[in-house]
Amino acid sequence: MTTSSSGNDQAGGPAERAKQLRDELWFHNERYYNDDAPVISDGQYDALMQELRELEAEYPELRSASSPTQLIGGSASDRFPQVQHPIPMFSLANAFSRDGLEAWHRRVTDLLDGQPFRMVAELKIDGLAVRLVYRGGELVLGATRGNGQTGEDVTPNLREVRSIPHQLVGDFPSELEVRGEVYLPLDSFRRMNEEKERNGEQPYANPRNTGAGTIRQLDPEVVRDRNMEIWVYSLNDTGNAPMPDGHWEALQRLESYGLRVNHLNRIFDTIDEVCDFYDEMLHRRHDWNYEADGLVLKVDSIAWQNALGVAGREPRWAIAYKFPAERANTRLLDIVINVGRTGSLNPQAILDPVVVSGATVQHASLHNEEDIHRKDIRIGDMVEIERAGDVIPHVIAPVDMPGEERGPIFRMPERCPECDTVVVKVEEDAMHRCPNEGCPAQFFELLKHFVSRSAMDIDGLGERWCRILIDRGLVSDVSHIYNLTREQLTELDRMGDKLATRILENVEASKKRPLARVLFALGILHVGAEVAELLAGRYASIDEIAAAGVDELTEIDGIGPRIAESIVNYFATERNQETIAGLREAGVQMWQQLAPIDDAAQPWKGQTFVITGTLSSMTRKPWAEPPRHR
Ligand code: IVH
Repeated sequence: MTTSSSGNDQAGGPAERAKQLRDELWFHNERYYNDDAPVISDGQYDALMQELRELEAEYPELRSASSPTQLIGGSASDRFPQVQHPIPMFSLANAFSRDGLEAWHRRVTDLLDGQPFRMVAELKIDGLAVRLVYRGGELVLGATRGNGQTGEDVTPNLREVRSIPHQLVGDFPSELEVRGEVYLPLDSFRRMNEEKERNGEQPYANPRNTGAGTIRQLDPEVVRDRNMEIWVYSLNDTGNAPMPDGHWEALQRLESYGLRVNHLNRIFDTIDEVCDFYDEMLHRRHDWNYEADGLVLKVDSIAWQNALGVAGREPRWAIAYKFPAERANTRLLDIVINVGRTGSLNPQAILDPVVVSGATVQHASLHNEEDIHRKDIRIGDMVEIERAGDVIPHVIAPVDMPGEERGPIFRMPERCPECDTVVVKVEEDAMHRCPNEGCPAQFFELLKHFVSRSAMDIDGLGERWCRILIDRGLVSDVSHIYNLTREQLTELDRMGDKLATRILENVEASKKRPLARVLFALGILHVGAEVAELLAGRYASIDEIAAAGVDELTEIDGIGPRIAESIVNYFATERNQETIAGLREAGVQMWQQLAPIDDAAQPWKGQTFVITGTLSSMTRKPWAEPPRHR
């Protein structure tokens, strides 16, 4: 495409877009590098930067030496003395896919006239880049990156990072300059947030910014208290000592001087090997006491590194191969309330869709009102969300947006959004609940739970059919499932004979589920799979459980008064008694054959033991419990 320069200046044209992107990137650079408080995710930042780069590549007239594509975003604050970096502290180009990585590999191969090269693979630590200078083996300077040319002298703080030696060991050169990433270990971060929570204060948003903020505050004791650490990843040529031939060797030397080098670093010949290592590291990324957001690949040969040089602010000889992002910032558009099967009112975040770990996220959990207030999350806020592993994404906290007007404090509705019953909230329960056992939303959730794999396991009766059966008036109690006829099922739209047969067979098979499964399937408040097992371990039938009082139930280890009261309430409620009667009538087995206890296996049978005193690791209660039936 060719465009005249006047065309570029037009509203909505590339010049205007480039300006917009530069303004945005400068704004975000400030938030990230100077405030240690980014308001967009790394992935979103990278996408803006990529768009600007592509525009500048397509329209060379838009390029400028002061573009964020050419400069590193931070600036040194005036809280600390400024330091010039004789060798600039560079940034890294990113690859987000194997294709991107291969493109980098091809470019480097071309520039090296087709010669094969070895690559060192390191973890890309999500912390704060620092430069350390040792003279005569003694630490004389520690500085932040700043804008890459000028950083802050934070030596007193870096002396308190326990893995930064004050004195080198071994055969160190007279002057040594190293670079590395300082970070706040995740266990320290968790501890700090637990304390915040105990004091009823707003928790820190993430370890990266908390760690960077720790190094950029003025009290070295704070650094010591937080157990900050470093991984060292480069040795710089200061002209004072012969350099090793390769980066791999440089890392070994750094380690021999007593500096902390990550043992997960590897050296490879091929991209296939790199990709296998990437997959392994991606899989293990939650095993470490620090956050890593990808790999860094570096051409091993120092001579070739020098030959390849730097483009703008990024060395051509290195690339960051990023892990898919797990956190992102997005707008909280609304908070809706879903009614759970136990009547809990579950607040759910409706988000401006955002890609996290390769998936688009539009909903996230918000736990309960208390949690929303503690984190001060409000509709309309920019929020940070996290999607870790397979768990449901959740909102971590609002992102500080200075100058932005905020919505009102969130309040739970006073009435159930599904059945309009007045909501109850008891102090010791974090959840607001709809007390109406006939609430249609609760019943839908209960039915889904009842038929689910870990409960009665009625395969074929998925969520869609549960909805249809309720809407058609065929099921208004879980026991009604057992009265369904072939005719009723095959009359339903898109229910073939085959599916009806499968469902009926599975319904029949479910009548013989173990007692613990039936108990769990009933959806009794606070009776999860584990508590159901405890009950089935003590009682032979549902009738025995229904007859037990709170005192008796709390004798079981693992069952406290809250659970016991809930069980007693469940069986005291008429509607639930009808459910049990319906299930019984349908032939659902609600008792278990107790294995006869062999007398020979009970050498102490009939004897009485008196247990007195205290034990350091056990209460007396388990000794007093009758034996389990199974
Ligand atoms: S090498 C080659 N190695 O990532 C010049 N950087 O996005 C760049 N980082 O400023 C440094 N782990 O703060 C390098 N193993 C590693 C790294 C690493 C984290 C950071 C560093 C750098 C940023 C670039």
